[in-house]
Amino acid sequence: MNVNDTEIAWSILQRTGYQRTADINKADVVLLVTCSIREKAEQTIRNRLQQLTALKKRRSSSSSTPMKVGILGCMAGRLKTELLQQEKLLDVLAGPDSYRDLPRLLREAQGGQRASSLLLSLEETYADIMPVQQVPRARSAFVSIMRGCDNMCSYCIVPFTRGRERSRPVSSILEEVQMLSNQGVKEVTLLGQNVNSYRDLSEQQFSGGGSSSQQQQQQQQQQQQLSRGFQTIYRPRLGGLRFCHLLDRVSRIDPDMRIRFTSPHPKDFPDEVLHLISERHNICRQIHLPAQSGSTRVLKAMRRGYTRETYLDLVTNIKTIIPGVSLSSDFISGFCGETEDDHQETLSLIQEVGYNIGFLFAYSMRKKTQAFHRLQDDVPPDVKQRRLQDCIALFRQEAARLNATLVGSTQLVLVEGVSKRSAAELCGRSDGNMKVIFPKGDEAFQPGDYVQVEILSSSSQSLRGRAVIRGSLRDSVPP
Ligand code: 5AD
Ligand code: SF4
Repeated sequence: MNVNDTEIAWSILQRTGYQRTADINKADVVLLVTCSIREKAEQTIRNRLQQLTALKKRRSSSSSTPMKVGILGCMAGRLKTELLQQEKLLDVLAGPDSYRDLPRLLREAQGGQRASSLLLSLEETYADIMPVQQVPRARSAFVSIMRGCDNMCSYCIVPFTRGRERSRPVSSILEEVQMLSNQGVKEVTLLGQNVNSYRDLSEQQFSGGGSSSQQQQQQQQQQQQLSRGFQTIYRPRLGGLRFCHLLDRVSRIDPDMRIRFTSPHPKDFPDEVLHLISERHNICRQIHLPAQSGSTRVLKAMRRGYTRETYLDLVTNIKTIIPGVSLSSDFISGFCGETEDDHQETLSLIQEVGYNIGFLFAYSMRKKTQAFHRLQDDVPPDVKQRRLQDCIALFRQEAARLNATLVGSTQLVLVEGVSKRSAAELCGRSDGNMKVIFPKGDEAFQPGDYVQVEILSSSSQSLRGRAVIRGSLRDSVPP
């Protein structure tokens, strides 16, 4: 998300004549794109700000152009007063919906004032801003399709820092994907805080009415749009074009382009989305399915809208409709009131599902959230850490087991570039998003090529193999 925000901010600044430098000592402006989701992310930014403050002081004593420092994104809005008091050398603060204001804010800062713009918007999706890719001519790109979140999970600050859910019109997304395809991009990841809640309301399919039969129809529609057995905590929106439609249209643009999406909520996987993933050869058979906990009691306290059982039923449904699917997940250890039994349930869920990739966090309490107001952050830090380590160890073990089952198979790999460890090897990703490393060999494979790779060995984090033949997405056969 932050990579995409950086690309959007860049695009806006570039139009106004700003240029990028790789040498921070030469920069007139340094902007940090920030995230508030966990305490650790904020601490990293605070440390960076301290370094910048020292650099800024040095610069002001030795150079005629003073350096301007700004904070962009979630931390700007969340900590406005605190940041301005503590970080006296901050010049600019711009919230996630204020990047269009950056040229004006920087002009004000250049005039010696502190400038901030922090209001969250109900509409801003930066639909017309083409992000400037961080790596020029990269073969993979992110395309933002929606922003914000209405879910209000009790631990999460995102709805407060990034605002309400809003979707970018289908037409502007299709235009951007087409443009990326013309540039030779081979993999697009559709991006959003709640990517599969996508709903383009500018394209109404029906308008809501008041009669009881219409209400019944709406209720029925609502049920069909969710994963079986799931509920929404908030009142869902109706009408408009939904994720399945968008995914269908995006995947038709370029048969040689892989489509991924992140980060979804488990509630928004109606069967039609799963069937589309299964049937369309260029939509990767890989689903991120953030569980957060394996205990129904904790899930209720988190306000996730599902139980352990409904989550596991969804996993079964996904595995049935999309054989060979790769699953990944997010988990939080040590949430308010989590007991040792709850923790064991999380471990058993991790084992039962079998994920290839996991993002695991110790709970950190965030102000403004429901948990902050109503629950006790009562799991001691050392217990949180121990439970987190238990989860990490089990994840590694399970990922290693799953990856070992791929030894002997042939995977279609999209080449990303030379391996970091050895110039004689190439590195790429399988359809399931596993890192695959293989010797360069005689064929001069380039980033953006598809190669059939026979897998010879595996670890918990990557696969190794040998190139068999140049491949194509079009002739990839589902397992
Ligand atoms: N503490 C720890 N982890 C959190 N996440 C969100 N809020 C918190 C928090 N307060 C994690 C969730 C989410 C991921 C992006 O970050 O697992 O899915
Ligand atoms: Fe946060 Fe929950 Fe929204 Fe994800 S779905 S961004 S965890 S509130």
